[in-house]
Amino acid sequence: MSTYSILVVDDEILTLNNLKKILEREGYEVHLADSGERGLEIIEIYKPQLVLLDLMLPGISGIEVLKQVKEMERETIVIMMTAYEILEKAVEAMKLGAYDYLLKPFKINELKNTIHRALETLSLRIRILEHLESEKGRYYLGKIVAQSKKMKEVVEMAKKVASSEKTTVLIQGESGTGKELFAKAIHYHSPRAEKPIVDINCAAIPENLMESELFGYEAGAFTDAKKRKIGLLERGDEGTVFFDEIGDMSLNLQAKLLRVLEEGTFTRLGGNKQIKVNIRVITATNKDLGKATDEGKFRSDLFYRLNVVPIRIAPLRERKEDILPLALSFIQEFNHQLKRSYKGISQEAAQAMMNYPWPGNAREVKNIIERIMSLYLAEEIILTHLPFEIRNYQKFSKNRIIKEIIPKDSFLTLDQLERKYIEEVLERTNNNKTQTAKILGIHPTSLFRKIKSWN
Ligand SMILES: Nc1ncnc2c1ncn2[C@@H]1O[C@H](COP(=O)(O)OP(=O)(O)OP(=O)(O)O)[C@@H](O)[C@H]1O
Ligand SMILES: [Mg+2]
Repeated sequence: MSTYSILVVDDEILTLNNLKKILEREGYEVHLADSGERGLEIIEIYKPQLVLLDLMLPGISGIEVLKQVKEMERETIVIMMTAYEILEKAVEAMKLGAYDYLLKPFKINELKNTIHRALETLSLRIRILEHLESEKGRYYLGKIVAQSKKMKEVVEMAKKVASSEKTTVLIQGESGTGKELFAKAIHYHSPRAEKPIVDINCAAIPENLMESELFGYEAGAFTDAKKRKIGLLERGDEGTVFFDEIGDMSLNLQAKLLRVLEEGTFTRLGGNKQIKVNIRVITATNKDLGKATDEGKFRSDLFYRLNVVPIRIAPLRERKEDILPLALSFIQEFNHQLKRSYKGISQEAAQAMMNYPWPGNAREVKNIIERIMSLYLAEEIILTHLPFEIRNYQKFSKNRIIKEIIPKDSFLTLDQLERKYIEEVLERTNNNKTQTAKILGIHPTSLFRKIKSWN
């Protein structure tokens, strides 16, 4: 990992210099600001990953700075520092998206641990996405490419569930089909759009960390728990909590989540106070949760609770009409981003793209378009721009089928080849001769004749 940069905002010069020394020794790049105003300027210029922000500042307050940071740089992690033990202020800051807070005076180790955890969190992609116009624009349902009937139906469905405020949605689809896109679009089209969406990737977070991230904890709950931590569920209060890759959640946590959904309350780790939250839950998975349920890997009661409105996004190979519109919309996007002026896709390239099955779905289309457009300065995407496996997919797959049928060291006669093929189709149709004849494009009587001739 390259060096993280940290900005410290505090009006006490002594504190600034102290922290600079400590943090530089840890290998961070450090910027200092003695007021909120100056801090905001530095953030604008250097975009630090983390900000240590004093709550009590002479000019604009720490809370105000926090709000502005969250509006301009939603990825920036903010840790509040306060000399006053006013939990309310810190909790307010947490609700506004601060990651954590440090009570002054704090020990060097406490500082290091908090920063370390925060940066780890950053890499684990737990993000609180505050409402932002740009976010909202990015996840506008109208921008989702939907040419095929299947996709249009999904968009319609998403519009409907978005307006029903608390309905739980389960989005299923292969990797790269747009699950996250839909989850966020639903949130930003819902009456909760002005509230945060908390984005939790269940596959990326280790189980023990996940529990304390979700529920938070009280001081003393475990050895490292020096003080209370507000969990992600509380942060999502009145907003949406998006559990991505829910299929990877452990059975133990599934049970706990189910309780939250049923009762609307939970307790922080090590606490006994019932905390009430009003959250909308959206989940996504690329696993077959129904099957996982049958196999005992996913709790069936939770499955039914989550599956209130199921949204299934078909793989791209089952909605080929979307391939070129998707590609064109990505071309537009990257014309903008990469300062290119591509006008489209050549006939041949388009044909090859239509023939390819896109196992990585929309994301694969996007990646390939981006790669081509950053490599070549051209007017349109042409066949030779495409990666080998797409250009040669047809040839490739035809050869593959033949290679699988024909033994390496000998050849088959046409009759033998025909017999092998017919037997395969019979097997796949469970020996249904009418269906087999239909697939082979021959009359059932000629199929019967062939079968008879083998005996
Ligand atoms: N219908 C669509 N219209 C426009 N962009 C799309 C569409 N579907 C997917 N994308 C884009 O493709 C990329 C992948 O989508 P997304 O991250 O939502 O997929 P995912 O299903 O969550 O994948 P994974 O299971 O791998 O996490 C994103 O950049 C998304 O914006
Ligand atoms: Mg995803």
